[in-house]
This record gives sequence, C-alpha cells and structure tokens, in this order.
Amino acid sequence: MGSSTTTILFYRNFYFLLLALFISSVACSVTYDHRAISINGKKRILISGSIHYARSVPEMWPDLIKKAKDGGVDVIQTYIFWNGHEPSPGNYYFEDRYDLVRFIKIVQKAGLYVNLRIGPYACAEWNFGGFPMWLKYIPGISFRTDNGHFKAAMEKFTEKIVSMMKSESLYESQGGPIILSQIENEYGPLETNAGDRRYANWAAKMAVGLNTGVPWLMCKQDDAPDPVINTCNGFYCDYFSPNKPYKPKMWTENWTGWFTAFGGATPTRPAEDLAFSTAKFIQKGGSFVNYYMYHGGTNFGHTAGGPFIATSYDYDAPIDEYGLLNEPKWSHLKNLHLAIKMSETALVGADPVVTSLGRNQQSNVFKSKTSCAAFLANFNSRYSATVLFNGNHYKLPPWSISILPDCKNAVYNTAKVSAEIKHAKMQSVRGFNWVAFNEKVGPYESRSFTWNGLREQNGVTWDKTDYLWYTTYIEIGHGEKFLKTNMHPILTVESAGPTLQVFVNGEQTGTAYGSKERSKLTFTGPVKLKAGSNKISLLSGSLGLPNIGMHYEKWNFGVLGPVFLTGLNQGKRNLDSQKWFYTIGLKGESLSVYSESGTNSVRWGMAWPKQPITWYKTYFNAPGGSEPLGLDMGTMGKGEMWINGHSIGRHWPGYKAYGTCVRCNYGGTYNEDKCNTNCGQPSQRWYHIPRSWLKATGNLLVVFEQWGGDPKGISLAKRTVG
Ligand code: GAL
Repeated sequence: MGSSTTTILFYRNFYFLLLALFISSVACSVTYDHRAISINGKKRILISGSIHYARSVPEMWPDLIKKAKDGGVDVIQTYIFWNGHEPSPGNYYFEDRYDLVRFIKIVQKAGLYVNLRIGPYACAEWNFGGFPMWLKYIPGISFRTDNGHFKAAMEKFTEKIVSMMKSESLYESQGGPIILSQIENEYGPLETNAGDRRYANWAAKMAVGLNTGVPWLMCKQDDAPDPVINTCNGFYCDYFSPNKPYKPKMWTENWTGWFTAFGGATPTRPAEDLAFSTAKFIQKGGSFVNYYMYHGGTNFGHTAGGPFIATSYDYDAPIDEYGLLNEPKWSHLKNLHLAIKMSETALVGADPVVTSLGRNQQSNVFKSKTSCAAFLANFNSRYSATVLFNGNHYKLPPWSISILPDCKNAVYNTAKVSAEIKHAKMQSVRGFNWVAFNEKVGPYESRSFTWNGLREQNGVTWDKTDYLWYTTYIEIGHGEKFLKTNMHPILTVESAGPTLQVFVNGEQTGTAYGSKERSKLTFTGPVKLKAGSNKISLLSGSLGLPNIGMHYEKWNFGVLGPVFLTGLNQGKRNLDSQKWFYTIGLKGESLSVYSESGTNSVRWGMAWPKQPITWYKTYFNAPGGSEPLGLDMGTMGKGEMWINGHSIGRHWPGYKAYGTCVRCNYGGTYNEDKCNTNCGQPSQRWYHIPRSWLKATGNLLVVFEQWGGDPKGISLAKRTVG
C-alpha cells in the first residue's frame, strides 16, 4: 500500500471517529465519568426523591412534585408497577393512578428530571414485587433466572415501557426529563450460580440494546457489565465504590425511614441522621443521592406486598402519606440541599482531598481552579469536637458534618436542626350512621366447586380476592361419644396463613393469624358438634403477596393442612383428603356492594357492633376545607374499606404493634429497628382518603369487617400539622 493510500485511510478513519463522537454526543445527552452524571455536558450533583405514582392519586401529583422541588430535589425516581399496567396478558392499563405518561409530564413541567426504575421486578413492598399474578402460571417459568419464558415476558414489558416513553419523547436524549433508567432490582445478592450471572448479564444487555440514549442503572449489582452503572442502596452508602473507576458513585435508595407492617411498630429515622448520611456520601465523592421514599404514600386496594405490609406507606418520608410536609425533616434536608448546591461547582470539579483532623474527625476538600468547598466531619457518636481547619476553629457536634461551600464559612451542620418540629394531628370532624348486611358463611352453592383435598389459596383465587372459603362436612353418628363427657372435641387447622377465621355450623369459633416474620398459623380450639352433619367453614385471608426473597413466587398460602379433630371416641379424625367445597371471595365482593351500581343488590338492615363478616355502609357529605382526610378505624378489627367504589385498602387496627419500641437516640449507626413508636397501639389506626375521591354530597362509604368491630366509633378526621 502506498503512503498516500495510508494517509487517505487515516483521514477517513479519523473522519468516522469524529462523526461517531458527534453522533454519540447528540444522541446521548446524558453521560458520565467517575465523578458524576453530565446532562448536556454539565456535570451535576443530583438530589433525587422517590415518589411512586400509584401510591397517590393524579390530583396529588403536581403538589407532591412541587414540594419535592421546593425541598431541593432535582430528580423524581419511581418504580414501574407491571401488575398495575398489565392485569391480564396483553391487556394494558395506563389510566388514573397508573397514568405514567401524565406523571412524567408533570415532573417535566416542574423542570425536574426522572429516574425510571423499569425493573420490571420492583420489590418495593408492592404486591408480588410488581409482577402480575398470571406470570406465575406461564408453564415452565422461573422468575428472575436464566429462563426463556421469564426473559421473554420481561423483555416484552420492558420494551413496551421504553417504546411508550420514546413515542412521547420523554428521554433526555429526545428533550424529555428521563435521565436514567433502572433494570432489575437488587439482584446481585441473589446470584448463586453461573445461570444467575448469565441472567443479570442478559438483563443489562437487553436494556442497553433498547437504545434509550440515557444510562442504565442496576442497584446492588456488583457485576453490572459496562456501560451499566452499579449503585448502592442502604441507610449509609459512603463506603460504596462502583465496579469500575470510570463510573460515578450513586445511591439509589437512602432509606428515609422504613415501612410499617400490620402488627409492627412504626419506624422513624431522625432528620439529623438522614442528613448526616447524605452529607457523608457527598463528602466521600458521591454525586447522586435518592431518598427512598421522598413521599411514601398509600398502598390502596390490594397493592400492598407482604404479606402483612400495612396500608400506609408513610415511611417517615419528608412528605408524609397525606402530602403534608414532615417537619423538621423536609426543611432540614432542604437546607442541606442548598448547602450542597452552593458547593456544586467545586464538588464536580475535583476529587476530594482527605485530611485527618483528629481521631474521629476529617476534612474533605474539593478544590478546583475557581472554587473550593469543604466538608468537616465528626464521626464520634457521643462527643462534640472542635477542629482546626485552614487556620479557623470549627465546633462539630457528635455524629455530624459541616459544609463550607467556600472552604471558610460553615453554612450547614447535619446535627443542627433549625427547622421547627411540627406534629401531625388527626382531628375528627364527623361520625356516621350505618346500615349493615351480614355476609353468608361459606360455601355459596352457586359459586362453589368441590375438590378432594386441600388446595393452595392463590392457585385458586389468582389473587383476585383476599378471601377463600374452605368448607367441609363431617358426620357425627348418633351413638358417637366424645372421649370425655362435657368436653368438646378439638379442631386443629394448620394453615400457611396469613389469616384464618373458623366457623362451625355457621357460628364463628375463632380466628388465627401469622406475623410478618412468620405467616404460618395453627388454630386449635374446642368445637361444638351435633349428632348428624356438621359444617366446618374456614375463611382463609390473604394480605398481599410476597415481594422479596429467593423464589418468592413459590410461597404457598391458605389452608394446606393438616386439619383434624381429636377428642372423639373413634380417635383422631383427619379431614385433609375428604371432599372440600371452595368458594372464591365474598358474596358482597361478587355483587360489588361497595359501589353505587351494586350496593342495592342486597338488603341492608340495622347495624350492630361485634358482628363478624359484616358489611357496613353509609352516605355522607364531604367536609369543607382542603385538609387531607383520614378514616379513624380505631374501633374496628380487620377488613377493607371503599369510598365511592375506590378501595382505600385493608384495615387492621385490631393488630396491635407488638415488640418493644426503641426510643430514638440520635448518633451512631442507624438501622430500621433503631427508632420506632406506637408499641401496644393499633399498628395502623387512620386510613388516607384522597380528597379527589369525594363528591360534595352523597359519598358512599362501605366497610367490610371480618372479625367484628364497632362501626359507631369510625370517624372522618382532618389532618393538620403544626
Ligand atoms: C430495598 C428494595 C426496595 C424496598 C426497600 C425497603 O431493598 O430495593 O424496593 O423494598 O428495600 O423499603
């Protein structure tokens, strides 16, 4: 080859290289280096907050997003909830609380960015971790593994979301607000074999292949292949390093508190510790922090995962469940964000220079040609310290960080809360007059089928209802004697849970339930049997499908046995393999008595307290004002509530928060058991009713009470803070 040909080839290759660089800089307006994400060429320290669109109502979204913006948030992070969007295969739903495009456009209008966690596995204390129930019944499927059926379904849904976002021009590369997306969720710790690693790798490649023009994230995924960025989740993430030196240090879940479980105490996290963890992360070179949750919201309907996740998903987040500011947390973080923003140029311009200022004290200085910012930290959890830095003295309270955006003036310290503490109050504004209708004890002949033996609950209900009646009949011969005179035989029911209500010949005999730690339960109790045929009806209750753990789709629920009687003179009588009648759901559910269209299909009568399996209904006019509303269910047991046909969610104030509450002592490493309140009280007493679900007059409120409560004690309360 002559030298002129070599020269031409060189220039041609050089031209193509330039062209490629040009195209990639146009097509990919979000890039990254080891220090930070760059948006349109500008490196940013980004503050993000999780707001899950389906955990509030569209009417609340603009205000929530505005409050996030006012609090110094730049990015809204949300999961996508597959089971809300594809209730049956190929039938998609993107309306109302699931109107994803509307949500993202509201964020865009507010001038904020979006991190879209497509998953499609979400975890999130969301029913089945976000997966639709039908997915489990695809023959041969195995969730979140190198399994063709699963990968095909996951790819199809991921593509569906990405193409929807593209067609609405919502990626930053198209001028939209989405700067980042996530595939999978915390898969790394579950990887045990080569197949798992292949799956993780496949998920990353599949996502990257969708050409969104913005980076993909994988949280807790140490082996995330390039160009996917692996990120950290936890109460602290300052120790974290991404898997490659050219990726930025990002934190996708800084837990602002924790979720509440039915039967559990209410976790809280001090604002000081939350601010400390964020400041420490930025001090150690982090450049993206997301608060999980910034607004937690509500698990309406049957969206709670679990089992045992409460209806409230308040999370002790900076914006409370009802959309009000949680103070001093919101303001204390806002001030932190201001201090970080004042330091942004210096932060993105340099790596920190770390100097020890004492045994537990340290300075981290970010110095470029034009700017300098410093973080001074005292990691001692008990004692304050005075440090000497650049010739000046700074007093640092225990477990705190001061921010000096000019390397001189401390404008913020994480332990010094200047914002006022404001307590939220629920003020009752009205009670109700109720009418009632008693649910019939199963089976309902018209809606039952029979089976010899016991069946797993969700395999029968497909999670379309929380309830499954298991009914069987036993003959007691006239001459049959009980072992001991004047004693009743004992019925034992072993159930995989989570709840059980036992009826013998139509009379409630007892209830049993598991806990978040162990959903299995055993009912044992004396039963009154008569000579002749006796009906044993077991109402098994679901409480949200699992959302986390190894092969959580394989968990079984419901009455799986053994079920047996002892105390009869014939000895132990096993009922497991005899004929059982199955009735899916409640009669009231099948008639939609909670909605305007179905409510007159039954006869409502006088309302009495303490009646098990009873529906209560009332009509009321909306109270004036604009305060958020909650239903005080303190006198009720367990069940579900509806307003104008919308399910408010499950209520279970009868389940008191067990365990010992730990007083919140600030300082030292925090975890979700460290500070909690409410022990001995109903684990959830108030239930959020979005104002937009109310009309001015004639609102239909329906409560299904499973265990028996006093509806006279139910009241509507306004929530205020301060
Ligand atoms: C994380 C998970 C989130 C959520 C959180 C607890 O591990 O990624 O989806 O479940 O725990 O609230």
